[in-house]
Amino acid sequence: MFKRTAVLLLAALMLCTSGPAPVFAAKGESTEYEDWAEPVKLVALTFDDGPGAYTEYLLDELAERDVHATFFMVGRNTTGKFKPLVERAIMEGHQVASHSYKHAYLTKYSASGMKSDLEKTSTALNDAAGGSFSYMLRPPYGAKNSTLLKTAGVPLIIWSVDPYDWKYRDADYVSQNVIDSVKDGDIILLHDIHQTSVEAALIIIDTLSQMNYEFVTVTELARRKGYEPEAGSAYYSFRGDNAAERISEPSVSVFPHLGGYCVVVTVEDGAPVYLSFDGSDPSQGEPLSRTGHNRYRALVPRDSVVRVIAAWDVNGDRSREIDIDLHGEEWID
Ligand code: NI
Repeated sequence: MFKRTAVLLLAALMLCTSGPAPVFAAKGESTEYEDWAEPVKLVALTFDDGPGAYTEYLLDELAERDVHATFFMVGRNTTGKFKPLVERAIMEGHQVASHSYKHAYLTKYSASGMKSDLEKTSTALNDAAGGSFSYMLRPPYGAKNSTLLKTAGVPLIIWSVDPYDWKYRDADYVSQNVIDSVKDGDIILLHDIHQTSVEAALIIIDTLSQMNYEFVTVTELARRKGYEPEAGSAYYSFRGDNAAERISEPSVSVFPHLGGYCVVVTVEDGAPVYLSFDGSDPSQGEPLSRTGHNRYRALVPRDSVVRVIAAWDVNGDRSREIDIDLHGEEWID
């Protein structure tokens, strides 16, 4: 019985692109730059010490501008009322990372003390994110030693631009400081627990966007600059000139098939594809297995809500999401 079902399913998958016209088709947006265009400059905005009272506003404003950032969160801040912001940040394409459990000098701990602090932080972040992710580490105060490098188990991310936003608390001064000194490949340090820092970030984004800068997460910055960050190494910037392209949005077509639908997903650059059909966050499941050259297929029931992303790393290097609501689609057999 099981075998027969499996064979039927396989036959169904093989046939499922030759049916009637698709009920939905979205061609992924091309990410190729025009030949004459000046190469885009990449920069990572990072926010430490949250989530806090201004994080939700910041997420709203980043979404408005279609900009992705990296949040180095303090573990204990993610267990209370700001907990939902962790999952929201990841789902909206930001990167969530670790800033220890309670913002202590990790270098004052023994190896086992460091390990238990970092594990406690990962557990809190995973619990809030509703998934199991790897979190890069920014040690509080940027304080590191050889024990921490050996113990962390993830790359340490420091920064290359520090406008002392926590000290000046002046959005215009802080943003000007960054705009005057930033370079392609930089990692900018800000703190989303101060309202002036959040306002500064928005000025920085609106100004640098006009100067051919693109804002990406730390993980995406590293990949597009040709780096593979290693556990136990510390990074201050990713200034290589090996600029790879932004991860391309998948092309998705949906065909009526066997009382349900066949979803065909194609990606340009071979990035793994994640799909959910019950409306849940696609990044919480396993990637689809490939059924052809950069092509993936899934059979879904009628009335599904399909969500598709392509991602090299769901926590920080993912495409925009394609959402398809198949409720009430007219059924043509
Ligand atoms: Ni901090």
